[in-house]
Amino acid sequence: MFQLKTASSLRGTIEIPGDKSISHRSVMFGALAKGTTNVRHFLNGADCLSTISCFRQMGINIDQNGQEVSIHGKGMHGLSAPAELLDTGNSGTTTRLLSGILAAQPFVSTLNGDASIQKRPMKRIMTPLREMGANIISLKDNDCAPLKITGAPLHGIRYTSPVASAQVKSAILLAGLYAEGSTSVTEPSLSRDHTERMLRQFGADMETSGTTATISPCKELYATDILVPGDISSAAYFMVAASILPGSEVLIKNVGINNTRAGILKVLRQMGADITEIHTYEGSEPAADLLVRYAPLRGLTVEGDIIPTLIDEIPILSVAAAAAEGTTVIKDAAELKVKESDRILTVTKMLRHFGVDITPTDDGFIIEGGKPIVYDNNGPIESYLDHRIAMSAAIVTLLCDRSVPIDDFSCVSISFPTFEKLLDTLSN
Ligand code: S3P
Repeated sequence: MFQLKTASSLRGTIEIPGDKSISHRSVMFGALAKGTTNVRHFLNGADCLSTISCFRQMGINIDQNGQEVSIHGKGMHGLSAPAELLDTGNSGTTTRLLSGILAAQPFVSTLNGDASIQKRPMKRIMTPLREMGANIISLKDNDCAPLKITGAPLHGIRYTSPVASAQVKSAILLAGLYAEGSTSVTEPSLSRDHTERMLRQFGADMETSGTTATISPCKELYATDILVPGDISSAAYFMVAASILPGSEVLIKNVGINNTRAGILKVLRQMGADITEIHTYEGSEPAADLLVRYAPLRGLTVEGDIIPTLIDEIPILSVAAAAAEGTTVIKDAAELKVKESDRILTVTKMLRHFGVDITPTDDGFIIEGGKPIVYDNNGPIESYLDHRIAMSAAIVTLLCDRSVPIDDFSCVSISFPTFEKLLDTLSN
């Protein structure tokens, strides 16, 4: 059992660990490129370490020294057959993007992950990859991992995805690197575009127009250096915490603010949050230092195209909504049901432990905010082994008058191993 602590305000300066999505991709694309890709500010979270270990199993030498990682790529055709099953741990990104790459390799591989991964839908990648000619089967015949992939010649497709998902889009584009003819993916709204930006940086011929990304077959990718910005999904816990705890003032350094990820920044500002970009960095990914000061928040409706740009931040956004005056409605977010846990259910259960008036719906929640946050003392909070539920619970607890037990907090290391330390640094 782990005890979540209270705090009266948060003050100070922190640096957030590297972006999870970009860290994963730096290893994957670096492995397929010719030469050595040097990555700085890599996220040492369990998910990204799963990606490193899968590529090491396929013969790629990867040196890691804390946040500095060098990937000694062997080119587009340099992967070797893994001797054993590839373990993707808790990582949907590793499982889905790797499937796109493996579909085109001249060997057989099997991918599997933890209990959560084995429940997450893989049909969304199996369908388009099969359309491209891939031989990919769900070994339990339930459209989930374990997946057995037998490399096959692929051909390009024009795919209209039913979901706005960067993992689906990326799996198809990665397979498209190896396909005959060009491959394009059109999404209902734009999901994070790190694959498009980064593949271009590695030399791929990639075009984007609206919500369509098109890739041409590629002969070779070339190593490049990558500076990973801080993960806005991790920064969001402190953006919300500083906004809801009176007297707080927190400077969060070097946060990635790519437009396809920055929905949380826009929505918190619309709620009344006082967040200033005091320094911006222009690189292949834009970033900024964010100064966040306490400000009273008000509820609002969040729906439509902005949802994919803040999908991972909805658990912590719902904490902001609980502290805000008035009603917050989150719609069009049915994707929450297929994350590390069913987050419509787990956010609801977690917040109800704190007396929050939350009603789950088919595609989101309705939260009546501004009521006292009081732990109901009805057994420990459950994290459901979902890192984002655990960290969101830690932030609601700051508003309580006593510490709160949580059954498992170790899952936080999936995306944010230094969360507790940074929270302690800022707590008053
Ligand atoms: C990710 C895409 C998102 C996000 C996940 C990381 C990525 O998933 O929820 O944490 O790195 O591509 P979906 O693409 O399934 O929405």
